[in-house]
Amino acid sequence: MSSNDIKPGHKLTIALSKGRLQDDAIALFARAGIIVAESELNSRKLLLNSTDGRFSFVFVKPADVPTYVEYGVADVGVCGRDVLLESQAGVHEPLDLGIGRCRIAVAGKREVVGQDYNLLATVRVATKYPRITTEYFHTKGVPIEVVSLSGSVELAPLLGLSDRIVDLVETGRTLNENGLEVIDVITESTARLIVNRASFHLKRVEVGALIADLTEILKP
Ligand code: PRP
Repeated sequence: MSSNDIKPGHKLTIALSKGRLQDDAIALFARAGIIVAESELNSRKLLLNSTDGRFSFVFVKPADVPTYVEYGVADVGVCGRDVLLESQAGVHEPLDLGIGRCRIAVAGKREVVGQDYNLLATVRVATKYPRITTEYFHTKGVPIEVVSLSGSVELAPLLGLSDRIVDLVETGRTLNENGLEVIDVITESTARLIVNRASFHLKRVEVGALIADLTEILKP
């Protein structure tokens, strides 16, 4: 069954990331017949309805998407695997949406690329991903001090705030234009559809139809 065949029932609330994933996610939902009026998208509203009224969208910071879904104020969300790994939220993750492809990488100034870590000295690492960073360096046996930032992480090595960074790399342009290079790729990331555990059961018809529709349009 397609979500377009469903009789009026449970409305689904979908949490979307503001920023880099937003346009691609909206385009993906539009291909699945879930349309938000252009006038709404051009507004500053943070809570929008699809034109057919079956879905509402909430626009939140990327790192907050798993929280909205885990607590059930949104039934469904779209967020990067990077954010999911960092949040460890208890949600279902039924679908890789294939958009927002990027890497989570360790990077540093060009002169430190290729240098071994001195295992007796603490390395300062600036990042928006303290959990991923801690786990990665722990596995390597490298002692680190995490400097938690919420953006413009590439500035940290330039200003001497950190020796390395762990950050998202998409085109590599931000690193390049700031004289930084990838030292190691920790993992790849794409956007995932996530679903609240209770909604997965209580709204299984609507959630199932949404997953089926998105799966269909993602077919090569
Ligand atoms: C992300 C990331 C890098 C940049 C990478 O930042 O943290 O800074 O994008 O993209 P690129 O490889 O295509 O240059 P974002 O734009 O989300 O802003 P932020 O620095 O405020 O986190």
